[in-house]
Amino acid sequence: MENIKAASMVMFIVIMLCFSSNRPGVEGVRGEENDLIEAICKKTSYPDVCIKTLRSSPGSSGADVKGLAHIIVESASTYSNDTYEQIKKLLKETKDKAMRNCLDVCFQVYDLTIHDIPKAIKYLESGDYDSATEYANDGIIDSDTCESSFKEFPEIPKSPLTDRNNGLTELCVIALDMIDLLK
Ligand SMILES: *[C@@H]1O[C@H](CO)[C@@H](O)[C@H](O)[C@H]1NC(C)=O
Repeated sequence: MENIKAASMVMFIVIMLCFSSNRPGVEGVRGEENDLIEAICKKTSYPDVCIKTLRSSPGSSGADVKGLAHIIVESASTYSNDTYEQIKKLLKETKDKAMRNCLDVCFQVYDLTIHDIPKAIKYLESGDYDSATEYANDGIIDSDTCESSFKEFPEIPKSPLTDRNNGLTELCVIALDMIDLLK
């Protein structure tokens, strides 16, 4: 008798727990979407950047893996366009010859990047994942070319674009990791 009482008490608690964690509604749904974002981002090289970028994009709610990859590449596009504008501004403000040389290298490579990354989005959408990979990879090569140019001039103590170049590389690496999951 005591055993049956104890067993039904346990059942009661289990049922209550099930109801409280499976409560339908907005909260439950959002929880599931966050789970996909977290699960996918944890498979990338920069989980924190990945989660932060996706959570701040309204379109990430309910998106599948391809949709999440699209948002990351779109963010990389916005990011590289912003960097391109910063480079143009720096070029206007800078008189130093060595610095101008480096900024000019960055201007030229980013001029390609801002057109390559939208191509990655196009190929991602059409399911040509190899081409999408190729164009997303350009973002990594180009930011590296820009960053390296400053190292060739000892008189330039520090690249003014390190954070921007690292930021683009991280977004592109995340995009490549996600496209790999789709292949
Ligand atoms: C970035 O700039 C390119 C070239 O002008 C443009 O095609 C693309 O749509 C821009 N990306 C975003 C996210 O606005």
